[in-house]
Amino acid sequence: MTTTAPSGTPAPRRYAIVGTGHRAEMYVAALLGTHADVGRLVALCDPNTTRMAYYQRQFAAAHPGAAPLPAYAPQDFDAMLATERPDTVIVASVDHTHAEYVSRALRAGHDVITEKPLTIDAAGCATIADAVTDSGRDLVVTFNYRYSPRNSAVRRLIAEGAIGTVTSVHFEWVLDSVHGADYFRRWHRDKSLSGGLFVHKATHHFDLVNWWVGAVPETVFALGDLRFYGDVNARERGLGERPARSTGAPDADGDPFALDLAGNDRLRQLYLEAEAEDGYIRDQDVFSPGITIEDNMALLLRYADGPMLSYSLNAHGPWEGYRVSINGTEGRIELSVVERAAVLAADGVIARFGTAVDPSATPEEVQPASGARTEGTELVLQRRWEAAQRIDVPEGPGAHGGGDALLLDDLFRPGTRPDPLGQAAGWLDGVRSVLVGAAANQSLTTGQVVHLADFGVPLRPAPAAAPAGNTR
Ligand SMILES: NC(=O)c1ccc[n+]([C@@H]2O[C@H](COP(=O)([O-])OP(=O)(O)OC[C@H]3O[C@@H](n4cnc5c(N)ncnc54)[C@H](O)[C@@H]3O)[C@@H](O)[C@H]2O)c1
Repeated sequence: MTTTAPSGTPAPRRYAIVGTGHRAEMYVAALLGTHADVGRLVALCDPNTTRMAYYQRQFAAAHPGAAPLPAYAPQDFDAMLATERPDTVIVASVDHTHAEYVSRALRAGHDVITEKPLTIDAAGCATIADAVTDSGRDLVVTFNYRYSPRNSAVRRLIAEGAIGTVTSVHFEWVLDSVHGADYFRRWHRDKSLSGGLFVHKATHHFDLVNWWVGAVPETVFALGDLRFYGDVNARERGLGERPARSTGAPDADGDPFALDLAGNDRLRQLYLEAEAEDGYIRDQDVFSPGITIEDNMALLLRYADGPMLSYSLNAHGPWEGYRVSINGTEGRIELSVVERAAVLAADGVIARFGTAVDPSATPEEVQPASGARTEGTELVLQRRWEAAQRIDVPEGPGAHGGGDALLLDDLFRPGTRPDPLGQAAGWLDGVRSVLVGAAANQSLTTGQVVHLADFGVPLRPAPAAAPAGNTR
């Protein structure tokens, strides 16, 4: 569908965005700014007109005098595709809607860029796999963690053979009570909408390990519980009666878990002023009833012909970051990342949390607190019979140590930079990662080991068609 301008240079590709909440901002900013030379934003689609208007205002500011950016309701998605003729549809809506939008856009002949997770369960993976196969269109999953320099450095070390063949991986991720708590305030708290943190959050982590070790996940066993958030835990810890939400709560000012939607311009415009339309309450109390996801989780995974993984995720830590150890036949890699050293109620963090901080922003965007824990990255390689060596992780400009800039270039200027590490992720990467989470969820309910092959969804590329005459 891309056309060529009379000068011979390709006309900018046309993009439509489905889902105009927090995450849409990165794509809108790129298409109105850094990547406006190669991409044009042609339409939005979301049930909430107030949230779409937030981005329509940004479009109007970037294109003074232009016609308003068209905005469509979900029921008019197909009409949007036909009328606005996007080359690519960007899916940034709530997770449980991804499978439908991705497959409908592909089948209508459009390429798709989708946010993680690809979808929330095995049925969604099957729907998408069929649509990819039938349509032959391109589907990219934006696994931005692959682009963080520290994560690509791990991939590079393994690919160079620095530790020989990988035999096992241990991966621990800690979400703190700013970022982690945020999953318990809104739609993520409902497993039927997000797949729970084994899918919504851990999809990043499973993809990283899948990518690092270059293997296909095979067997999963998992445990998980809601141990901290939710009304039952709050009562057991004697927290007393909680409000349903922060806005209007009498003691919100002194509550470190409260979220002040009115005090943050962006949150107010995107959510508080929009809630009358659809009842999406962004600041539900994290100790209120109705949470169906876990906050403490552990998993064991075996890769086909590959290593094993032990993984854990905690969503109420006092600091945020992750620790990874990778054992190989020739040595070991250790990565330790402290993204936020502490959340300190005593030194004014409550005030920042309540008024200035968007908790869905990455910790890097928040002023760090410290103490004995130091923020930053430590990457250590130790080969057998040798002393440990610290590996430098050079960072580039912009968010995520320069990772976001690389991701946006891969999305909007594909093929213009070498990709020796294979950072660009496709639909099979999305499937492999979601199915680990789906298997974990199944294991939680059955108490059994789950074999990913039993989902009946492809985990590997289809074999190339046999040459004519080859009957074997
Ligand atoms: N890669 C990352 O680091 C990262 C970070 C944040 C979010 N995300 C992903 O981006 C997506 C959106 O997350 P968010 O934080 O922006 O959430 P959000 O709640 O801010 O926005 C979600 C939007 O989806 C819309 N929506 C709801 N139902 C819809 C429907 N049927 N059709 C179309 N739109 C619908 C909502 O109205 C809302 O505007 C999620 O899939 C999330 O996993 C990724």
